[in-house]
Amino acid sequence: MKSGIINKTIYDVDKIRKDFPILESMIHGKPLCYLDNAATTQKPKSVIASDVNYYTHLNSNIHRGVHSLSEAATKAYEDARIRVQKFINASSEKEIIFTRGTTESINLVAQTLGRSILKEGDEIIISTMEHHSNIVPWQLIAAEKKAKIKIIPIIDKGDLILDEYRKLLSPKTKIVSVVYVSNSLGTINDVETIISLAHKQNIPVLLDAAQAVNHLPVDVQKLDCDFLAFSGHKLYGPTGIGVLYGKSHYLESMPPYQGGGDMISKVTFEETTFNSLPYKFEAGTSNIAGTIGLGAAIDYVNTIGINNIAAYEHKLLEYATEELLKINGLRIIGQSDNKCSLISFVLDNIHPHDVGTFLDFEGIAIRTGHHCTQPLMDRFGVPATSRASFGLYNTKYEVDILAAGIKKIIEVFK
Ligand code: ALA
Repeated sequence: MKSGIINKTIYDVDKIRKDFPILESMIHGKPLCYLDNAATTQKPKSVIASDVNYYTHLNSNIHRGVHSLSEAATKAYEDARIRVQKFINASSEKEIIFTRGTTESINLVAQTLGRSILKEGDEIIISTMEHHSNIVPWQLIAAEKKAKIKIIPIIDKGDLILDEYRKLLSPKTKIVSVVYVSNSLGTINDVETIISLAHKQNIPVLLDAAQAVNHLPVDVQKLDCDFLAFSGHKLYGPTGIGVLYGKSHYLESMPPYQGGGDMISKVTFEETTFNSLPYKFEAGTSNIAGTIGLGAAIDYVNTIGINNIAAYEHKLLEYATEELLKINGLRIIGQSDNKCSLISFVLDNIHPHDVGTFLDFEGIAIRTGHHCTQPLMDRFGVPATSRASFGLYNTKYEVDILAAGIKKIIEVFK
């Protein structure tokens, strides 16, 4: 697929696209135009090769064997942890816990830190634009502990109202858990301010960075967040692997999440002592291939440079916003001045599911629905939106294809 006049000044997107075999696919006889990167990103050849290499040459269990294969697999797994540590600039690899994904990372904190600190009447602060994975885990533990959930409201443009957040913070607040970049609006939240206000009252902050790490440079020490969760599959890595970063003093004080092999130091029928960080939180055989694949994905992103990706995608988003706003009857939901990566929109009198199905016949993959943010849809008074989300390999030409597809459906539904 041609890229049109594209920003070769930042990087050569045509060359990059060749790293992603799936982008050569034809859908209903049309070249695939993949604009569903907020749901999951495609994988470069190096990540696919990592999986094949692991099962061809390395497969064995980690941390358990003295044989050569086990040692090699353990080394590759722990090397991936160091890649993640460096990628988000954690101060120690012990602060990097591998999980199944963002959802499990948040559940881990809710069920361990939440369970140990929450008491009746305590409060947890989240925001209107949270994904269900940063709502439901808190509801579950809040119901058990008779704690309350407080919600930071947003303005119509899609920005959090930080003055209201300030008012919500109180001695009752035990944790703040907010999304860094909204999966439905694209808003990049002012998490620095959110964190510093919470810290003035010694309240820990968790960031859901699922939609952030693939679009922005993330430095956990600079942000000073206490926890940060993300998934491998949105960072051009495999599914089923994710990360929980936590400051070590919190992780040390938290009870284990799950019991089982590898998370123990010594077990008797009377008593068990737990392994040190990070293993205390990694019970059972891990997703070894996925973890190593995540390391390969980080290497891939690093070769392009996350700042280059951010700059490239920013230009693409500007172009897409401009082109889509030219379409009569199209309304963008989420127009923050500080946003990245995606455009959620609704069309007058056409249901998003019809939009998604129609565009699929044009070879265009977008997501339609509530995007696992039903309370946010309620806030905007819509049942669903259509969402085009961009990745490092998308092009202006693809934006043109999308705009043409939308115009076509409007004509057809007239
Ligand atoms: N959370 C992912 C999305 O927004 C699945 O599509």
